Amino acid sequence: MIGGWNNNLLEGVWQNAGVGLMVQDRNRRIIAVNPSFERITGWPWKDIKGKRCDLVYGCHTASGKPITEQLCPGMRVINGEVARVARELLICTNNGGNRWVEATVFPIKGDDGNIEYIISSFQDISEKKKYSEELLHTKTLATMGQLAAELAHEIKNPLNAIQIQMQLVEHEIAADKKLAQSDIPEIISKVKEEVSRLNDLVDTCLKFARPDKLVLKSQALGPVLQNLIKLVAAQADLNGVNIELTVEESLPHVMVDSGKLKQALLNIVLNAFEAMPDGGTLTLTAARDGNQVKITARDTGCGIPEDEKENIFDLFYTSKINGTGIGLPTAHNIIQAHGGALSCSSSGRGAEFLIKLPLSDKNR
Ligand SMILES: Nc1ncnc2c1ncn2[C@@H]1O[C@H](COP(=O)(O)OP(=O)(O)O)[C@@H](O)[C@H]1O
Ligand SMILES: [Mg+2]
Repeated sequence: MIGGWNNNLLEGVWQNAGVGLMVQDRNRRIIAVNPSFERITGWPWKDIKGKRCDLVYGCHTASGKPITEQLCPGMRVINGEVARVARELLICTNNGGNRWVEATVFPIKGDDGNIEYIISSFQDISEKKKYSEELLHTKTLATMGQLAAELAHEIKNPLNAIQIQMQLVEHEIAADKKLAQSDIPEIISKVKEEVSRLNDLVDTCLKFARPDKLVLKSQALGPVLQNLIKLVAAQADLNGVNIELTVEESLPHVMVDSGKLKQALLNIVLNAFEAMPDGGTLTLTAARDGNQVKITARDTGCGIPEDEKENIFDLFYTSKINGTGIGLPTAHNIIQAHGGALSCSSSGRGAEFLIKLPLSDKNR
């Protein structure tokens, strides 16, 4: 008995726990599984008893690649890299299918301090995965619909302008009036200007619908951020903005397209400058957070009003007289294409943009 626990109680928990539980020895051989584990993985106890887990479940990572020893949560626990690890894995079920599980793995040490057992708890997350994939699909469709609506709206103004100019010409001709020679260049230039606006709009939308492919390379973020600061140093001086950069020591590399990432960061940094017309401080940080790297950009500017927060990532949304509303949606797309996320918070003074990027597989 340990503090009120007895074998009956343990047996009851083991048999009835809703999560799958598996006990392995330090050589990853399966010693015991509970009924929920059999149900979730589809593998009956008699078929897996004493086998090594990698030979049974053939785990895959989220991107569908077979899991390497470096990534295997069990191996990481055995090698003492981590005390407890949780990971989403795609496992092979006994009927040749696949299933998404969230595995949490931790070791149990013997009296001599060495790892004796590895305990894994498995939860079936296929529904959650299916739901999030569907949601992503729906969101993409919604975004496309929104994009089409916004594009239609933006195209209307230049089209109207062209139409007015053309009606003017038509009217003059119908009235059998000779168009004054001096009017012609002005009409042509107005029409050309509007056509070029339309062209730019279409280019922007095409870039959005078919963004360039990323060229991913394992990169240290420190130099990428320092490079960015060099690029904007003169502008920062002009605006009286002081830039502070903190990059966590020994920050692991990330797989990024550094050109594209710089473009995303530049959009965020330039917005920060524009939000601090009387100067201020822009604080950039990069640090590891679990399996991700977090980059933050915090400014001391005007901040973002509550009712505008949900619009700032929309294409063509701008609160500036000469704004384009392209910067943030572009940044958002670039970060998403990296498998990361871009979000923003603003309470009171200033705004903070948070970029999360996944670590390259070998650094996880
Ligand atoms: N750091 C910031 N502080 C306050 N508002 C911001 C900041 N960054 C972005 N915004 C808001 O988000 C809007 C959209 O930004 P963006 O897409 O870059 O377009 P633009 O800069 O052309 O307006 C801006 O017009 C502004 O209202
Ligand atoms: Mg901008």
